[in-house]
Amino acid sequence: MRSSTGHTLLDSISNFCKQQKIAESTFGRRAVNDGKFVSRLRNGSRVTPETWERVSRFIEKNGGTSPAKADPRSMHLISANHITATANGAVESEPENGSRQKNFRFFDNRQKYLLFVTTCSEKEVIAQRIGVELGNIDPTPPAVRVLDAGMGDGSVLTRVMREMHWRRPTMPFYILCKEVSLEDVRLSLAKMPDRLFEHPSTVLIITNMYYSEAPWLTPRDEKAAASVVWQEVPLSGNTAHDFDEQIKALDSFLVENWQARHSPKTGNPIYEKPSVLILYREDYRFLLDDIIPKKGDSRADFDLIIASQPYRSRVSPQFKVEKVVAPLTRALAEGGRLLGIHSYGHDPGLEIIQKVWPDEMPFSSGRHEILHALKLELGADAGNYNFNANSDARSIFRYKMHALPTEISASIGTSTLFAAWNAAVYVAQIEDERLTAAMSDNKYLEATNEVLIKYGGLWFNDESYIISRRHARKS
Ligand SMILES: C[S@@+](CC[C@H](N)C(=O)[O-])C[C@H]1O[C@@H](n2cnc3c(N)ncnc32)[C@H](O)[C@@H]1O
Repeated sequence: MRSSTGHTLLDSISNFCKQQKIAESTFGRRAVNDGKFVSRLRNGSRVTPETWERVSRFIEKNGGTSPAKADPRSMHLISANHITATANGAVESEPENGSRQKNFRFFDNRQKYLLFVTTCSEKEVIAQRIGVELGNIDPTPPAVRVLDAGMGDGSVLTRVMREMHWRRPTMPFYILCKEVSLEDVRLSLAKMPDRLFEHPSTVLIITNMYYSEAPWLTPRDEKAAASVVWQEVPLSGNTAHDFDEQIKALDSFLVENWQARHSPKTGNPIYEKPSVLILYREDYRFLLDDIIPKKGDSRADFDLIIASQPYRSRVSPQFKVEKVVAPLTRALAEGGRLLGIHSYGHDPGLEIIQKVWPDEMPFSSGRHEILHALKLELGADAGNYNFNANSDARSIFRYKMHALPTEISASIGTSTLFAAWNAAVYVAQIEDERLTAAMSDNKYLEATNEVLIKYGGLWFNDESYIISRRHARKS
């Protein structure tokens, strides 16, 4: 039963423990697999919204009174740390009133992401998978239209752009990227000068808007729509160095307009100002005139939509669909294809996790559940699309942690072990407070070591699915 009297999380736990005559450490172990959970909470630790939900559900299921959802004191608990979980596949909510925490650096797990991207082959393998889809699209003039729905650090997109150029060297590209993190935008932009040099007929657009807005470059809220920051940057010169210099000079624009805070209710990122940055080569402006988006007059109609790791693994398939997959599906052009990719598990990475947290099941909903939920969400419109879960053999693919053959030996170096542990907990989206507990002794390194030796290295599985939009019947 939900409390209507405004219990905080701690109140609810204490009452529950008294009522059930159990120690708080027992509660922590049973509810979240962490005996020190309650004592850390007393010492001021914060919880993620997911942990909050998990604890509430546990209390409710066992006949207790869970904390009030809107209790400001419990909301205070759901603060900085919970963003860590959010960053693992950021799913944003619409803005709410009342948040005063501006300029929050919400990608607390940034270092984990960067270490993961550079030590594992995932982004390369994903780009390869997307390359297959590039062969299946049939764009119509005036441009090939691609949406990267979560650009991250741009490792996937820049590879995809290289292959797009290789496949269609003379066609204009309209490439729209959604990214709310300032630092990810910086990292991605730094990779773009060479792309603009090799493929001059490119319009590159970056926005911080939500999934339901970004494809159309239009906020749903009227007030927000009226305040969109719309910045067109024609790049002069004709060398990658010229472009790099001008892109670097955008830093203060980004700092001013790519600020985000987090929702006090869900912990999800919220933009301060809806912003759009449009880059293209000035010497190609004439050719690109029809392709450069105009404020208030943008269409979606994408030939290819990339949804790589776009949601937190533990949220329900309905949530993934409602917030991410359905709005993206509606942004497809006729014949357009959406490629969804997320972690699958059943791999040595998950084995490490389950050695430390035996009951952990991070990958709760797979492609079949997501596509099923999507059909329900689309209702009658579902008939306009094909939903392709594919066979396991076609859908599931493997990527690995880079390691020299000599590195995985009887005594594995600490930095390799740390990289492996980082990748495992990153992929499984383990919250920081649980990590701190697990890393208080050496068991986590022993577990990592055992798995690396057992398999002679470390690898992970991702799974993918395709949604394609049918061509309208000609009457
Ligand atoms: C919109 S998503 C993905 C960005 C980009 N499409 C990519 O694949 O890297 C951005 C967030 O997803 C998370 N993420 C990226 N790869 C992940 C993976 N393999 N497992 C879990 N989370 C991941 C990161 O926290 C990152 O900040």
